[in-house]
Amino acid sequence: MSFTHPVMSWTAAAAVLLGAGPLSSMAQEPAATVKLAGRAVPEIEKMPAGPQRDLVQYGHDLTVRTFALIGPEVKNVRMRYAGNNLACASCHQQAANKPFAMPWSGVTATFPQYRAREDDVSTVEERVNGCMERSMNGKALPFDSREMKAFVAYAAFLSQGIPVGANVDGAGMMASKMPNRRASPEAGAQVYAAKCAVCHGPDGQGQRVGQPGDAQGYTFPPLWGKDTFNNGAGMNRLIMATRFVKHNMPLGASFDATQLSDDEAYDVAAFMLSKPRPVKAHLERDFPARWNKPVDSAFPPYMLGAPADQHRFGPFPPLVEKQKQIADEIKAKAAAERARAR
Ligand code: HEC
Ligand code: HEC
Repeated sequence: MSFTHPVMSWTAAAAVLLGAGPLSSMAQEPAATVKLAGRAVPEIEKMPAGPQRDLVQYGHDLTVRTFALIGPEVKNVRMRYAGNNLACASCHQQAANKPFAMPWSGVTATFPQYRAREDDVSTVEERVNGCMERSMNGKALPFDSREMKAFVAYAAFLSQGIPVGANVDGAGMMASKMPNRRASPEAGAQVYAAKCAVCHGPDGQGQRVGQPGDAQGYTFPPLWGKDTFNNGAGMNRLIMATRFVKHNMPLGASFDATQLSDDEAYDVAAFMLSKPRPVKAHLERDFPARWNKPVDSAFPPYMLGAPADQHRFGPFPPLVEKQKQIADEIKAKAAAERARAR
């Protein structure tokens, strides 16, 4: 099976056939859009046996059984890179293939990319370590480790056929409307009891497969407490968590079959994030270009003159508006300086 996107190859072919001009003008064309929903998931079994397939298979296994291979309870102490017993697939569902659950299909077509958190262009490897240090509350993997190579090889495998620079429909999380009010953890507690506790437990500690210490992970992962993502993780931002929960939870929900209203998702996410979790050191170093720090990054410094509570629990629309104003001012100032320099 070929995953080449037909739009891309046809435009390219047509341009050549019709003598449509130099290659540089083709680069100006709008990027192809690849839709992940309904797209065939590449199958590792169809790869020819050999080192490439072994590495991709290891990347898959690291994704779904992270806890058993590089988790905090594995026998070989030197392999304890992750600080919790989650799997990458606890969030990147369906082995990082599910549309709008931050799938890795397309990652090698969209990276290296600018990231506000570092105010720099970041590679797939650096992005993997972003999740290692935050979502997995652990340590960075060495770039030349077999584990890092396996993650990158697996992401590239899932991305095959997606042209570099394509718009990936299904990447990241689907946006949803943020209610223009402070979220209510109290209302969220009700939603949690009714729709989440059955799996994640009334105390949010999930359900282990076996016993603590056995490195076998969870049937249902914990949502707060010691064994989960830390406060520097993307999932610790209320807008992010709301979008994730709205389109992916309870288990079985998807972007085109949601089960929660916008209000329920917002409040239950706030309830989850109001609970204690591991703390990441040096968060003040994140988002060095302060003006593009996301409004729901609930750690100092705060640049918009709003109370800390508003960054944590909303309402967000006024913060988004204010941030846009500041960004516009900065851009106008920079443009004026460039004009003066000419
Ligand atoms: C607690 C949830 C969670 C876990 C566990 C998790 N991630 Fe992530 N990951 C996210 C979120 C949320 C994003 C996107 C938000 C952002 O960019 O900050 C993301 C983004 C990514 C991306 C970039 C995807 C894109 O389209 O830009 C990669 C690659 C990635 N994670 C790798 C990993 C790896 C490897 C692991 C396991 C070692 C892992 N993640 C574990 C939540 C998680
Ligand atoms: C039927 C069981 C079930 C229910 C009900 C359920 N979840 Fe989950 N949840 C899971 C499983 C299993 C995963 C791991 C991902 C996977 O396997 O697809 C998960 C993953 C998560 C994650 C990311 C991983 C982590 O540990 O942080 C969050 C956040 C989450 N669920 C929140 C919720 C919320 C909020 C609700 C209620 C609205 C809910 N879930 C209801 C089973 C469930």
